[in-house]
Amino acid sequence: MDDNPLNGNPARGRCVHCHSGPMLNQFSAGAVALGFPATLGARFFSAFVSEFNDAGQTNVTFRFTATDGTTNDLTSPDAGRALITGDPKDFNFFKTPTIWGAKDTAPYFHDNSAATLEDLMNHYQRYFRAVFGATPDAMSDSDKADIIAYLKLL
Ligand code: HEC
Repeated sequence: MDDNPLNGNPARGRCVHCHSGPMLNQFSAGAVALGFPATLGARFFSAFVSEFNDAGQTNVTFRFTATDGTTNDLTSPDAGRALITGDPKDFNFFKTPTIWGAKDTAPYFHDNSAATLEDLMNHYQRYFRAVFGATPDAMSDSDKADIIAYLKLL
């Protein structure tokens, strides 16, 4: 839960970057201070669900055309918010859901790729290790077990 990994434990506490505010669904001040490309209170971001595509959905190539006519082809099973805004900056972004009561709302993610909280946390362990590193470990197995226990209390 530490929202300032630069001052605290740099290996932990990244759920709250995106699951902040009263509904646990908003971008936090700490994440903005760390330079995440989103504004305080924003609700859209990528949790790498389309990127990893654990549901094994068919990939589609989307062409984004800028106002100067240049094109940008990007491939994804579901490009998320970019399909609404037409902006490649929103590629694979989804609305951050509340996590209050998450223990009762399986399956998880827009593609239902996580059937249980354990699957969900296996996804986040892989994501955190890929983005923030495994040395020091951005999500150890014991962190994962602690967070699952915590999610069951929400
Ligand atoms: C980078 C921002 C970000 C971080 C960090 C993050 N999440 Fe998420 N979370 C999201 C987004 C966006 C979604 C929706 C993803 C989708 O469906 O593609 C989501 C979905 C979820 C869901 C699914 C809820 C449902 O009803 O389907 C749960 C539970 C969850 N996150 C818990 C966590 C936990 C626990 C952590 C820390 C280990 C975490 N999140 C870290 C952005 C984030």
